[in-house]
Amino acid sequence: MADVSRLGVDDAGELLTLQRAAYVTEAQLHHDLTLPALTQSVDDLVAELELPHVTALGIKLGARLVAALRLSVHGEVAEVGRLTVVPDLQGRGLGSRLLAAVDDWVPPSVTRVELFTGEHSVANIRLYERKGFVEFKRENVGSYDLVFLARTIVH
Ligand SMILES: CC(C)(COP(=O)(O)OP(=O)(O)OC[C@H]1O[C@@H](n2cnc3c(N)ncnc32)[C@H](O)[C@@H]1OP(=O)(O)O)[C@@H](O)C(=O)NCCC(=O)NCCS
Repeated sequence: MADVSRLGVDDAGELLTLQRAAYVTEAQLHHDLTLPALTQSVDDLVAELELPHVTALGIKLGARLVAALRLSVHGEVAEVGRLTVVPDLQGRGLGSRLLAAVDDWVPPSVTRVELFTGEHSVANIRLYERKGFVEFKRENVGSYDLVFLARTIVH
């Protein structure tokens, strides 16, 4: 099984393709085609990848990028965003593997990992709760809520 590696601006094009393909199901579940993951431009994605507090991690099978996430570190908190697996390989453990790798990539100052998903993404919420995440808030974004979950890291 391929390793988790750090992605850079050279991966931006593939990352954008992966994120758009994977987030279609989120958009369908929430009847929302304006999700930032779907509307982000490649220039904005490159700028995000260049931010010093942002790390993109991915799994490649050969030349193909098959899974990715972004880590954004703010002091003691690391936010996980844009967790995505290519549609044809979902449900085979790649997302879980990337989530588990987070602890290896955050600085020792980080004691808490946060992420969010839409309230209708019950399969995602089930996955996150199984991995030790606990809901700590909800935010309304129009016709649905975003569910925020967190877990602690013990270094
Ligand atoms: C959510 C996602 C990253 C999970 O990665 P994965 O590799 O498919 O998941 P794993 O194989 O590691 O774990 C399986 C669990 O993930 C959850 N899951 C969420 N979406 C799933 C999907 N489309 N297919 C299979 N499992 C999914 C389920 O809880 C599943 O467990 P179950 O079989 O008991 O229902 C991936 O399915 C994906 O990219 N989905 C679309 C984009 C998305 O929703 N991203 C998260 C936004 S917050």
